[in-house]
Amino acid sequence: MAKLKTMYFCQSCGAQSAKWIGRCPSCGEWNTYVEEVIQKEDTQAAGSWKTPASTVPGGQGKAARPKVINDIAIEDEPRYDTLDGELNRVLGGGLVPGSLVLIGGEPGIGKSTLMLQIAMKLRHLKVLYISGEESESQIKMRAERLGEQHPQLYILTETNTQNIFKQIDTLQPNLVVVDSIQTMHSQLVESGAGSVSQVRECTAELLKFAKETSVPVLLIGHITKDGSIAGPKILEHMVDTVLQFEGDRHLSYRILRTTKNRFGSTSELGIYEMQGDGLREVSNPSEILLSQRAESLSGMAIGATLEGNRPLLVEVQALVTPATYGTPQRSATGFDAKRLQMLLAVLEKRSGLRLGQHDVFLNIAGGLRLDDPALDAAVCAAVVSSLNDLPIPGTVCLAAEVGLSGEIRAVSRLDQRLAEAEKLGFKEMYVSEFNGKNLGQGTHSGMRVQAVSRLDAVLAGLFG
Ligand code: TYD
Ligand code: MG
Repeated sequence: MAKLKTMYFCQSCGAQSAKWIGRCPSCGEWNTYVEEVIQKEDTQAAGSWKTPASTVPGGQGKAARPKVINDIAIEDEPRYDTLDGELNRVLGGGLVPGSLVLIGGEPGIGKSTLMLQIAMKLRHLKVLYISGEESESQIKMRAERLGEQHPQLYILTETNTQNIFKQIDTLQPNLVVVDSIQTMHSQLVESGAGSVSQVRECTAELLKFAKETSVPVLLIGHITKDGSIAGPKILEHMVDTVLQFEGDRHLSYRILRTTKNRFGSTSELGIYEMQGDGLREVSNPSEILLSQRAESLSGMAIGATLEGNRPLLVEVQALVTPATYGTPQRSATGFDAKRLQMLLAVLEKRSGLRLGQHDVFLNIAGGLRLDDPALDAAVCAAVVSSLNDLPIPGTVCLAAEVGLSGEIRAVSRLDQRLAEAEKLGFKEMYVSEFNGKNLGQGTHSGMRVQAVSRLDAVLAGLFG
C-alpha cells in the first residue's frame, strides 16, 4: 500500500500547494483551497491508459526533435461528419479524430439527450456511451424516445476509469461519449469523484487515450452556479473544444455555443428545439425567432445580426415607462447593459429624447445573447417606438451601428444580412450610407435599401 499523501487544491484554477493558503497565488481567489488525499506520484501511470508502443506516433520513448515547419506534412485526417448540421457547424465542420470535446450546461438542459442522439445517428460507427449518472434501463428508455435503434451502440454504466479503459480495449470503439466527467474517478487518485484532482486526472487519462488512438471523446461536464464548467479551470485548457449548451429551461430552444475550439472558429452557434422525441435541429432560426409576430406592436424592432457566419433576424423588444422611483431603471436581457446605456445617452443628447425620467427594459426575443453592434439601430428604434407608442411596420428591419455622435456606421457582411432579410419577406432595410455605397446593384431587387448617415434620419424615416 502506497503511503497516503494529502495536498491542497484551488477549486477555481487547480493550483496545488502543500499547505492551506487563504488566497490562491495563481488565480487570486479567496478561500478556494480544499484538502484532498492523493497517492504518491510514483504509483501513477499504473493502470491508466496505456497503448502498445506501435500505435503511438513515432514510437514510445523516442524523444521528439525539432522540425522545420515547411517539412511538416499535414496529416489530412478527414473529420467525422456527426450527421447533425448544428453540431458540425459549432465544431468547425465535423469532429476531428482524436479530439477531446467538452460539453457543458446546466442540469436538465439536454446534454445527455444531445449526446445520446448524436451517438444514435452515427450508425456506421461503433460508439461507446459511458454513463456514470443513469442506469442502463434509463438510457434505453431515453433511446426509445429518440427513435431508431443503433446496431453498434454500446452502453457502459461505469465510473472507474481503469475499468473503462479495459472495456475500451476489448471493444475498440470509434467514438466514446462520457457522461459526465464529474462522476468519473480514477484509482490513482484517492479523493472523491468530482473533486479537482479527480476531474483533472480522469480528463488527463481520457486525453491521453484520445490522442494516442485518434478516437474522438465527447465529455459532458456540469457547470457551477455562476455558469462556468465545474472543476478546475485547467479542464478547459486540456480539452480541444469547449461547447456550452444553454437556453431557458422553460422555453424549448437550446443554443450550442463554442467557447473554445482548436479546430475552428469560436463564433459559431447551433440552435435546437427540444421536442417530445429529442432535439430537433433548427436550420432556419430567424423563422422561429420572428414567428410570434401577429401584428405590429410598439416597442419592437427587427435587427439583422450575424452569429458567426450565420445571418439571423432577431426581434428587439423595448419597454419605456415613466419611472416610479427616483433613479430610473435600465435593464437588458440578451444585450450588453452598458451598450444600452450608451445608446440611451446618444438618443437623449443627439436626438433630444427625454429618457431621464423613464425606466427602460430591453429584451432580445428567443433567449439569445447577442453582442453584434449592428443591432444598435434596432435597439434605438425599439426604444423610440415604445416611448412614443408608435409601431414600426413589420416589413422593416435594421442593420447599423450607432456612434457616439449619433452617426450611423457601417456593418460587416451586409450582403448576407440583406439576403437573409429578403428571404424572410422583409421589404425595407435601414443601413449606413457607407454600406449603401458598396452595395452591388440589382442584387437585392426585392429590398428597398435606406442608406442613412444619422440616427435622426432613421427615426424620421420610421416614425415620420
Ligand atoms: P437531459 O438530457 O437529461 O439533461 P442533462 O443531461 O443536461 O441534465 O434532458 C432532460 C430534459 O429534456 C428533461 O427535462 C426532459 C427533456 N426531454 C424532452 O423534452 N424530450 C426528449 O425527447 C428527451 C429525451 C428529454
Ligand atoms: Mg445528463
